[in-house]
Amino acid sequence: MNVTIAGIVSGSNGPAIAQAARVLADGGLVAMPTETVYGLAARADDDAAVAKIFATKGRPSDHPLIVHVLGREQALAFAAGLSEAAERLIAAFWPGPVTVIVRRAPGVADAAAAGLPTLALRCPAHPVARALMEQCARLGVPGLAAPSANRFGRVSPTTAAHVSEEFGPELMVLDGGASELGIESAIVDCSGTAPVLLRPGVVTREQLERALGTTLREPDAASPSAPGTLESHYAPRATLRLMSPSELKTALQVLPATVQGVAVYSRTAPRRHPLVQVMPDDPRAVARELFAVLRAFDARGVKLIWVEQPPDTPDWEGVNDRLQRAAAH
Ligand code: TXA
Ligand code: MG
Repeated sequence: MNVTIAGIVSGSNGPAIAQAARVLADGGLVAMPTETVYGLAARADDDAAVAKIFATKGRPSDHPLIVHVLGREQALAFAAGLSEAAERLIAAFWPGPVTVIVRRAPGVADAAAAGLPTLALRCPAHPVARALMEQCARLGVPGLAAPSANRFGRVSPTTAAHVSEEFGPELMVLDGGASELGIESAIVDCSGTAPVLLRPGVVTREQLERALGTTLREPDAASPSAPGTLESHYAPRATLRLMSPSELKTALQVLPATVQGVAVYSRTAPRRHPLVQVMPDDPRAVARELFAVLRAFDARGVKLIWVEQPPDTPDWEGVNDRLQRAAAH
């Protein structure tokens, strides 16, 4: 009488969460909502389960995954101690969209860490993710390895439907609504002598630095590489070009408004221009909708996406990072 639920299931459905936890405890995969983007989860302490994530995503096995935990206590099961920087970020931002990289406890989560001596740990705030992890903990699962639930190199999913489009109906997807933040967590490497920002997120550099009580270093040759910070990442199928406001203005003046195959995402272009989708002025609003906007352009079959470069200010850092990677494809 064990009916397997697959496809999209409401995350407020208690029996579905219980079943998802059993699937995970048994070494299977489930997609879960988080406040940043949807994740493709497996139990972090089972290398064979984690291998299914790499296979399903088409992700090279040397690209480490983030392990999701309920809080500091669970984090300690994976870490070889927490540095002061990690402690400060955990105290300030967990649960929330900040991932810390710490030194890994020997022998745990080898596959998730891709064999590295460090491990990325994140404590999501989304109630469905938390309910799922609580059920998992009752079944003896100490944490969930979960990359963004997209095929390798593609745009991260911010809705349950996006995940199903990526992986088909056999995968169980817990629906927790559209992700509130919309871009992936900020990643801070706290495993060395000084904290390094490996991936900017919605929490700004200034907020991170205030909590750390020190400035963040830029990644350099000595920093662990975060391969997800590969240049061409978060890529739509269409070619994305970043343009300055004036470049875009000129381009729109010469382009016939009825041209096919071009989409424009802009804050300052004429709002009634038929090609233009208006970009909000608030960076958080743009972060929230960015990946869905890129997916919608792809679904329309456009070949070219022109995006107006947002201001080069700290509050736009997370969005600018994703746009630059999408444009580098
Ligand atoms: O918001 C998020 O962080 C989402 C949700 C699902 O939690 N997850 C996510 O995971 O974005 P993923 O796998 O798509 O990106 C994780 C990034 C990758 O760039 C990976 O290379 C980096 O974290 N990473 C993981 N472990 C690392 C480590 N030990 N050292 C350096 N980079 C690491
Ligand atoms: Mg990803």
